[in-house]
Amino acid sequence: MAIKYIPEPFRIKVVEPLRMLTREERETKIEEAKYNVFNLRGEDCYIDLLTDSGTNAMSQNQWGGLMVGDEAYAGANSYFKLVEAGKDIFNYGCIQPVHQGRAAEKVVFPILLEKGKYAISNMFFDTTRAHVELAGARAVDCVVEEAKDPITRAKFKGNMDVEKLEKLINELGPENVGLVVMTVTNNSAGGQPVSIKNMRETSEVCKKYNILLDIDSARFAENAYFIKRDEEGYADKSIKEIVRELFSYGDLFTMSAKKDGIVNMGGLIGVKDADTPLLLPIRANCISYEGFFTYGGLNGRDLEVLSIGLYESIDESYLAYRIGQMEYLAAKLDDAGIAYQSPVGGHGVFIDAKHMFPEIPYYEFPGQTLAIELYKEAGIRACDIGSYMLGNDPDTKKQLKSEFEFTRLAVPRRVYTQAHFDVVADALVAVKERARDIKRGYRITWEPPMLRHFQAHLAPAE
Ligand code: F0G
Repeated sequence: MAIKYIPEPFRIKVVEPLRMLTREERETKIEEAKYNVFNLRGEDCYIDLLTDSGTNAMSQNQWGGLMVGDEAYAGANSYFKLVEAGKDIFNYGCIQPVHQGRAAEKVVFPILLEKGKYAISNMFFDTTRAHVELAGARAVDCVVEEAKDPITRAKFKGNMDVEKLEKLINELGPENVGLVVMTVTNNSAGGQPVSIKNMRETSEVCKKYNILLDIDSARFAENAYFIKRDEEGYADKSIKEIVRELFSYGDLFTMSAKKDGIVNMGGLIGVKDADTPLLLPIRANCISYEGFFTYGGLNGRDLEVLSIGLYESIDESYLAYRIGQMEYLAAKLDDAGIAYQSPVGGHGVFIDAKHMFPEIPYYEFPGQTLAIELYKEAGIRACDIGSYMLGNDPDTKKQLKSEFEFTRLAVPRRVYTQAHFDVVADALVAVKERARDIKRGYRITWEPPMLRHFQAHLAPAE
């Protein structure tokens, strides 16, 4: 059933030309890229849905903010403005800028994790998992069972399985669990939200065992929008009130601000307690890895535009338009019988590639296969969120089998229009029509030891 596209609550002032290569050219490009979409040049992609991270369009206020960004090495105005925005929106006592999300992880995780320790999450994103492992610890996912079934619609599929969490803590030994990480929204499960109730219950378990709760909060505003829309008792609360309550259950947050911060580069660390003993080691690591703590690896102008973007992201009319884009595309997929993680999440549509290509086994990467087909079909760049991304077990080095085989169509903020979504839907329908003839996927011919999906080489499996 077609649904109405919610009009953009803005108009366009600057445009960026796109070009569409021929099908033949695209086939050559993807082969030259060793069938890894990260090796394609941006200009060779007609609609780039590789990620919603750092690909956002800034507003006129943000572009204006660039000019007033203060480039002082220490104590820049833009730093204080960002800290004030962070304290106001999240109600946390300490706010530390860093250059992106994984920098936040690199600064914080070694303080809390070491060899022999575990971190448990509703689901780790790839870099977050990698930083747990780089700190010497092991990462365990603990998402609710509903998340694993893309077809069945359920609210808050991003939630932590709280009962399982407590069981896991007892099995591993509470003293060995260095950190619990709640990812909002749950990216790997399809941008699925976490409810306030689930956050509260998770925090109660953490408090009982004296374990810190970190909110991996790249998409905090989209998560808050889902709470307002779908959780009982929140319909009349403002997005900001919901964000504050959500964050009140955490002890700290690590954030890639390249998503809901609506900027091209930036990250944040927050600690709730203004007098936290974590502040000194965080600042020390920040100075070593990122730069002095009042700029955290960013330009002064980046600090300035992030302080503006954080407020723009909690604007309800923007969020209604944004989530509306996902729903518009999802409704077209419903009409075509194309399965995706449903209901649709916050930052993209995650196509169920296992459903599209039932004969392709996990070790031939159905999600990656569909990403390649979409590029060949219409120059659309998407990525695998499945076994290809998950990689190998860090101990046995064997290919892991992911719970899902998704192809993620991640939507940059304020960038693409309704007509672009129609192109994407048509391309998916065209691939579906020839899907039964696609019985083999891809194999890896070279891979680096960690985060391999960014760099690996692939070839058609035969
Ligand atoms: N946490 C989550 C939930 C993420 O989705 C990401 C990045 C990070 C942390 C790391 O942040 O990229 O700023 O260093 N996700 C991007 C994506 C890359 O495409 O989903 P970063």
